[in-house]
Amino acid sequence: MSGGPKTPWQDGRGSKDRSITKSNEASNAFSHQTGGAAKAVDAAGPFLIGEAMTGGYGGADILHECTIAADTGQIAVIVGPNGAGKSTAMKAVFGMLTLREGHVRIGGEDITALTPQDRVAKGMAFVPQTSNVFPSLSVEENLEMGAFLRRDDFRGTMAQVYDLFPILKEKRRQAAGELSGGQRQQVAVGRALMTQPKVLMLDEPTAGVSPIVMDELFDRIIEVARTGISILMVEQNARQALEIADKGYVLVQGRNAYTGTGAELLADPEVRRTFLGG
Ligand SMILES: Nc1ncnc2c1ncn2[C@@H]1O[C@H](COP(=O)(O)OP(=O)(O)O)[C@@H](O)[C@H]1O
Ligand SMILES: [Mg+2]
Repeated sequence: MSGGPKTPWQDGRGSKDRSITKSNEASNAFSHQTGGAAKAVDAAGPFLIGEAMTGGYGGADILHECTIAADTGQIAVIVGPNGAGKSTAMKAVFGMLTLREGHVRIGGEDITALTPQDRVAKGMAFVPQTSNVFPSLSVEENLEMGAFLRRDDFRGTMAQVYDLFPILKEKRRQAAGELSGGQRQQVAVGRALMTQPKVLMLDEPTAGVSPIVMDELFDRIIEVARTGISILMVEQNARQALEIADKGYVLVQGRNAYTGTGAELLADPEVRRTFLGG
């Protein structure tokens, strides 16, 4: 794909529309706000934020005033040791966990009380760490499943997914379960993009893939971010992920341990020594 400010996850309809939203308004990523007076949205602050999130799975709290955020068109990366609560933080942002305290906001709107499905309608897409494709369905059927909430013609979006991941087009009739790990992750990301999200949340998208496939997938993720979609990503490959991160979060025991730009965290001697292997 060539560079430039295009917005491939939009349908062809209304090519003047430079937003990544599902709305027809040629406004900005805030156009999901309820109409009229609500235009006076608080546009300050990041597009997506889980703020001071505290909660867990019913027992002891796993998250402790944990804050993670992603700005429009930026890549935010969450790293940290196993069991730190990275996946839990993602689930909390997506509404799969009831928070005891804290808020989740998208485009200034408080969505803390919404179900995951309602958050999808607000523009969130989540690719979980495991079981993120339907193995017995074909690649194309997986992408169609991603579009289940859409009532419009999604063929344009599917073509864009195939542009981004050409191998998926080649294998579109093949069962997703027969693909390599890296290709399955492409299916999962592609399925998420079928909703035309404003925010793409990825939990360890490069788990179990080779370094070459990881680099390739990161390049595609950068490409997606350039279209104006916010990326919130958990990664085990901390160093490589922070290299492409606008913002990085190191979580330890459910708390924010370090926060900064990717470059700042990579340069921080303490972060390097403790989390990046020197
Ligand atoms: N479904 C669950 N029910 C209860 N506890 C869980 C559940 N999922 C994760 N946990 C616990 O929450 C903590 C954080 O886990 P997780 O968010 O998966 O960490 P990470 O993704 O950083 O490896 C761990 O102690 C884990 O055992
Ligand atoms: Mg995890």
